[in-house]
Amino acid sequence: MTENKEKQDTSIEEEPLLIEKRDGILIVTINRPKRMNALDRKTLRMGAEMVEKAHYERDIRVVIVTGAGEKAFSAGADLKERATMNQMEVRQYILMIKRTLNSLENLSKPVIAAINGVALGGGLEFALACDIRIASPNARFGLTETSLGIIPGGGGTQRLPRLIGRGRAKEMIFTAQVIDAETALDYGLISHIAPEGGLMEMALEIAEGIKANGPLAVAQAKIAVNRGMETDIESGLEIESNAYEKLIFTKDRVEALNAFREKRRPDFKGE
Ligand code: COA
Repeated sequence: MTENKEKQDTSIEEEPLLIEKRDGILIVTINRPKRMNALDRKTLRMGAEMVEKAHYERDIRVVIVTGAGEKAFSAGADLKERATMNQMEVRQYILMIKRTLNSLENLSKPVIAAINGVALGGGLEFALACDIRIASPNARFGLTETSLGIIPGGGGTQRLPRLIGRGRAKEMIFTAQVIDAETALDYGLISHIAPEGGLMEMALEIAEGIKANGPLAVAQAKIAVNRGMETDIESGLEIESNAYEKLIFTKDRVEALNAFREKRRPDFKGE
């Protein structure tokens, strides 16, 4: 009886990360709506695998990350799972989320977070590791960890102040406050608020805008911004020169010049 129930439970368990490839765009959906898309270990493991896949598959040009349902992008760490963990397992989890989000941030393809509801704790840290953040009008944002007696451990204390400034970031982290989409836009935490029901359309539109451009150029631009922002301007400019240098010999660069002369759109091959 118990065995049958267990089997049944396993068979109805849905994949916590849904991955769909649509014409060069990888759409990744955190799919645990009954738990507000909280990030358990399985979801993080699948996230790390997804980043690796996106890195190696040349035909994937842009990644969009979103949450299933209309309430949550992700409510962060799975607090029900957390309650079952011993101290060592908590440490392992923190290392796992940190590594997964670092690899997402360093992925050679742009990542758009389409934030469709609450992005709290690790959920907001997930969005912070993406390149571009857009949100639905009902989205809410917070690094709420201090209210749980911990601090953000997936990069939140570092990425949030870099994005919105240390004063606002400290206020958000120290008070564990949750802000709405308008405030997030005002802070520069997100780039746009999509019209009601139009979030994925907006994400796809941005993705298409990126896809039209040279993939090697976009990858180098991402490296230049990411690495350059972490150093002084002189070193940053050198990083930019090195990134530019990698593009000089590419076929795509020549193709773009030919396309300009022939008054047509370039056909970039990523070579
Ligand atoms: N981990 C596990 N389950 C979670 C969760 C989390 N982080 N956040 C929400 N859930 C679950 C709830 O327990 C509930 O399940 P249940 O009905 O089986 O108990 C379900 O998701 C719906 O949540 P509920 O609280 O009823 O919905 P709400 O709309 O009233 O509130 C939140 C939604 C996200 C604001 C609220 O659940 C919340 O504050 N969650 C904790 C978020 C957090 O602090 N995250 C940081 C972790 S470091």
